[in-house]
Amino acid sequence: MKVAVLGYGTVGVGVYEMLREAKGLEAGPVLVRPGKDNEPFKVTDMAAITGDPSVGAVAEVMGGVEPAFSYAMAALKAGKHFVTSNKALVAAKGVELNRTARENGVSFLFSAACGGGVPILHNLARAAETDEILSVGGILNGTTNYMLDQMQSKGMDYAEALKQAQELGYAEADPTADVTGLDALRKIMLACAVAWGVLPKSGLLNEGIDSFTAADVNDIAARGRVCRLVASGKRAPDGRISAYVEPVLVRVGDAESAVQKNFNMARYEGKCAGSIALIGQGAGRYPTASAVLRDLSGICVGEAAMFPADCVEGEADNASESHAYYVRLPKACAGALPVAEVLSDGEELRVLTKEISVKQMHEIASSLRADGRAVFFAAMRG
Ligand code: HSE
Repeated sequence: MKVAVLGYGTVGVGVYEMLREAKGLEAGPVLVRPGKDNEPFKVTDMAAITGDPSVGAVAEVMGGVEPAFSYAMAALKAGKHFVTSNKALVAAKGVELNRTARENGVSFLFSAACGGGVPILHNLARAAETDEILSVGGILNGTTNYMLDQMQSKGMDYAEALKQAQELGYAEADPTADVTGLDALRKIMLACAVAWGVLPKSGLLNEGIDSFTAADVNDIAARGRVCRLVASGKRAPDGRISAYVEPVLVRVGDAESAVQKNFNMARYEGKCAGSIALIGQGAGRYPTASAVLRDLSGICVGEAAMFPADCVEGEADNASESHAYYVRLPKACAGALPVAEVLSDGEELRVLTKEISVKQMHEIASSLRADGRAVFFAAMRG
């Protein structure tokens, strides 16, 4: 099968190189921006791909919702299979792409959009066909895991850790999505849709690591814990879906604490299968390209979809999920929280809260920040 590639950045180069070596697959034209077509295999007009009957599939690795969405729709309507690593695209338009692919009798797969090289969505999609999925989640962003690991194990400061993650090709073009938890949130949205056929589009909550400081590192380490950015999705027996991302303080020695560098630990729990966790590189050129190639190879043996046929957009409800939280906040603001224990006193307090709902904790932090206050919070687990 000949594969056209949309985009020739960090992942695009990896996909093109792998296609040239892959059995059963052939590298087709690569769509680049006008002025970047300095090699014969590069084209600048999508019509050159949709109008080429020898192209069987399109792999989109350019990122962003537009023009990726228009190109995806054009490819699907031209009868080309469509594979993407683009979380923003699938989180925004996945239901429509799923429907269009099915209407046109072609495949729509996006393993690389969640977990980088870790085959979580592929396995989850198959499991969801035969088992009841109870929860999904884990460490789903390689950039922030790399940063947290460097800050906590090497004492690196935030700015240097981010710079390194960018140089290593882990971060998004605009790393704001990584450090604010938005990238991980998009990934948990996809996992929810694969697991339960509902792509949650509202009611979602994301807290990132952009408030995490060297002072937090020392305080947390002294308590025998490390910080990880964790995405959580769960379906309650009444059908309500929770989906959120937040820092979590895990005990040193817990599985998450051993996830280092750009690695992800993606997991799901099946009613019959129990808990399954997959660990591997969650970001970077070749890990991500390998997931794109796995999807293309899957198409050759009939793999067609990750979202169920009746997948719809829906809403997340994070009011019934609750945790105790570690919070750093100005002393004057402590009354905003149900404090269980003051860990350290001063102009800034470090406290443990009583168990409160995820929704309440995120709302309190955002209202304090709206008043210009510095706040860091992380759920206590384990
Ligand atoms: N920026 C993303 C990450 C890339 O760091 O996880 C892989 O999705």
